[in-house]
Amino acid sequence: MLLDTGSEAPLRPAELGLSQEPIYPIWSRIGDATRDFFLTFFRGRGEDGYEIRSLRRMARGERLDTLGLQVRDEGATRRKSEHWLARLTALGLRPDHLCVEYGCGSLWCAEPIIRYLNRDRFVGLDVTERFYTLGRQRLRPLLDEKQVRLEVISPTSLSSIAALAPDFIFSHRVLHHVPRRGLRGYMQNLCSLLNARSVLVIEHMPRPVRGSAVRRRRHNAADLQRHLPQNWICQEYSFGFVIAHRDRLDSDAMLEYGMMQ
Ligand SMILES: C[S@@+](CC[C@H](N)C(=O)[O-])C[C@H]1O[C@@H](n2cnc3c(N)ncnc32)[C@H](O)[C@@H]1O
Repeated sequence: MLLDTGSEAPLRPAELGLSQEPIYPIWSRIGDATRDFFLTFFRGRGEDGYEIRSLRRMARGERLDTLGLQVRDEGATRRKSEHWLARLTALGLRPDHLCVEYGCGSLWCAEPIIRYLNRDRFVGLDVTERFYTLGRQRLRPLLDEKQVRLEVISPTSLSSIAALAPDFIFSHRVLHHVPRRGLRGYMQNLCSLLNARSVLVIEHMPRPVRGSAVRRRRHNAADLQRHLPQNWICQEYSFGFVIAHRDRLDSDAMLEYGMMQ
C-alpha cells in the first residue's frame, strides 16, 4: 500500500519509473561523483553562494520571501507556513513527535510547527547560523518556552540529532536552491537523519523559470530516489516528495500515525 495524503494521490512508483528496485550503476555513480567534485571545485558549493547573495540582498534593504526579520509579504508567508503545518499533520505529524527542519532559515515556516509541537520536539538545521539568528530575535520567548534546538549542519550535529531518532524531517523551500552538483550532499545529509520510522517530506513546488512564464521543478523523484538507501521510496506529490521506508509504507503501523486518510 502506498502513502496517501488524502487530498492528493501520489504518483505510483511505476509512473516514476521505479517499479523495480531503482538501478544506479556503479559507473554512473563514479561519473556523477567526479563531475560534482570538479564543478564544486570550480564554482563552489551552491549553499555558500546562496548565503552570500541573500545576505547582500538583505544588506541592500531588500525584503525576501522567507529570510530576515521582516519578509516581503508577511501575510502570504504566514499562510504558506500554516498550510505546510496542515500538510505535515495530514501526513501524521503529532505534537509529541520529534521534528527536524533541514534549511530552517529565519524560522518563518517553522513558527506554526514549533507552536504545534510539545517542548523539546523541534530541531532546526541550516548551513549558517546567520539566518536563524534573525529568527531567534523575532521569536525568542517562543523558542525559550518550547526549548527549540538550532544547529549548523555538520557531521557532528547530524549524528547527534540522528541519535534522537526523529519522527519527521522536512525541508521547505530549500531544494530549488540546490544545484545538481549539490543534490548528493543534500540527500546524504537528510538520509543520515533517517531511522526506519522516519518520514521525510521535501517541499518542491514548480518555481518560475527566470525570464519566462514557465514554472518548473529543478529535480524529480528519480533524481532523489537514486540517493536513497535500499528499500526507501520517494513518492511524488504536487507539493514535492514524501520519502519513507518500504516496510513503513506497507505496514499497518502507518495507520497508527494517521497517514492513511
Ligand atoms: C528560502 S529559505 C527557506 C527557509 C525556511 N525553510 C522557510 O521556508 O521559511 C532557504 C534556506 O535553505 C538553506 N539552504 C540553502 N541551500 C541549502 C543546502 N544545500 N542545505 C541545507 N540548507 C540549505 C538556506 O540557508 C536558507 O536558510
